Formats: sequence, C-alpha cells, structure tokens
Amino acid sequence: MTPTWLDTAETVDKVFLYIFGISLVLLVLITAVMVVFAIRFHRSRQPQPRDIPSSCLWLEITWTLIPTLIVLSMFWYGWQGYLSLANVPPDALPIQAVARQWSWSFVYPGGRTSPKLVVPANRSIRIDIISEDVLHSLYIPAFRIKKDAVPGMTTHVWFRAPETGTFDLFCTEYCGLAHASMITTVEVLPAADFEAWLQNDQPAADSAKGRQLLDQYGCLACHSLDGSTRVGPSFAQLVEGANRTFANDPDTTLSVSRAYIKRSILEPGSQVVQGYAAVMPSYLDKISEQDLQALVDYLLQPDKAKASGTPSAMDSQP
Ligand code: CUA
Repeated sequence: MTPTWLDTAETVDKVFLYIFGISLVLLVLITAVMVVFAIRFHRSRQPQPRDIPSSCLWLEITWTLIPTLIVLSMFWYGWQGYLSLANVPPDALPIQAVARQWSWSFVYPGGRTSPKLVVPANRSIRIDIISEDVLHSLYIPAFRIKKDAVPGMTTHVWFRAPETGTFDLFCTEYCGLAHASMITTVEVLPAADFEAWLQNDQPAADSAKGRQLLDQYGCLACHSLDGSTRVGPSFAQLVEGANRTFANDPDTTLSVSRAYIKRSILEPGSQVVQGYAAVMPSYLDKISEQDLQALVDYLLQPDKAKASGTPSAMDSQP
C-alpha cells in the first residue's frame, strides 16, 4: 500500500485538536467535581472530617489506567504526525532556502533564485534549508511548519499548499539586530502559472539587474532606497562625491566613491557611518566580483530611487 500524505497543516491540526479536546473535557470535569465537592463537603455540612479507606483497589487501577491510556494515545497520535512531517513525499519539488543576516533567498532546480518562496498549489514542496552565518529558523504558520537553519548543516521541511494565495514566511530565531526584517511571503500559484514563472527567468536588463541583486543579497532589509532610516544608512544618500563621516574614525571624512562602496560591502566594520551600529555582516566570499561590480554601478546611479520603482523580476509574475 502506498502511504497517503496529508497536508502538513491537516496533520498538525488533527493532533492539536485531539489534545485540545481531551484537555477541554478534563478541565470541565475537574472543575465540576471541584465545585460539587466544595459545596458538599463545606464545613457547615460536614463539621467532622472523615477518613477515606486507604486501599480501594478498583479506584487505584482506574485512575492509573485511564490517564495512562490517554497520554499514550496522545503520544501515538503525535508520533504519527511527526513521522508524516519528517517523511517527504517522493514526488516533492525540491527548493533550497538560504538564510542570512537578514534575508531569505530561494533557489530552484535550474538555478532561478527568488526573494519570495513561489510554489505551485497542490504539489508537495521539499525545502532544504541552509544558513550562511548564524542560526535562523524558517516559519510558515499557514502550513504549520517551522525548522531551524543551522550553519554547517542542511535541514529540511516539506509542505503542500491546497490553494493559491499569499502567506507569511518569518524567521523565528533571534538572529541579530534586523531579525524582524527577515519577513517574506509564500506565493502559491496555479501549476501552469508556476511553470511559466519558473521558465521566465530571463536575466534582468542591466538597469533592473542592480535592483534584483539588492533583493537577492537582502540589502533592503537594512538600507532603504527612499531616504528613510533603517538599521543602516539609506542608499539615497549614497551619491558620488558626498561626504561621509565615520563613528569609528571621527577625524576622517571620505567622499563616496566606487572603492568606498566596495569596501563597505566587503569589510563593513572598517568604516561605520556615524549614527549607526557596526552590525553589518561582511560579504567577502559571499558575492561574486561580477555581482559586486553590478551592485556598485547600481548604487552610484543618481536616480536609483526612481529605478527602484521598476518592477523586479519577481513582481512581473502573472
Ligand atoms: Cu534570521 Cu531571525
């Protein structure tokens, strides 16, 4: 017999409702008995305390056996649920999730990457999770799945979305200052739309390439394009020739240049802009020379904030 795989949300909800239902019945019973006893054995009715015979075998057996069976049934039911979450259906579509401070990217078979998790409806999805730096945790409440991203190892979860829609995806392990920015979405598309999205992976035009890299490397979690303040200084102030002063070197003023931007990406701790904390992780060995050049080109564009209005590859999905 081939095993049938329930959707992860169904599996978890059944166990939850089972345990919640039993707890509710016990709560009502115990509270009722407590109230009855408080009235019946009140001092005004029973002025003299009475002993209860100490050996009452059937009572002992009953209150040992019934709770034991209840607890065992909870364990069995939960264990079945755990197994069906741990065993991935063999036809699942594998997608890699990469966690870093402070963004997610999802890598598809064939190499397409996306800052959102785009999946087809009604198909099992296997997510292999890796971390580039510290502990993170992938959490999609709608599908009741949560798994740590552990540096140096690959963990996995699977789920199946029964219907199309947009669902939240969080990091649920405190991973540093911008932990709360590690939010993205799961976009569940009809199967045909998903295939079209997957095929439609044209390299972005040069003008959109830089914007796409900002998404891919998670820069926008901490740096805005519109001048608003986030964890780090806004890219809007990054104009060639503009003066920068640094918290860790207050006597030096530098003007923004290619070399300055490259150094800020590869060795962010070497010059921390005044007013900000030294929290940016280094991108040394995490970004290719080609991507680095494209990013610097983009960041030096005077009208990049306007360019940010151009839809990224992700937004152009059907
Ligand atoms: Cu990543 Cu919290």
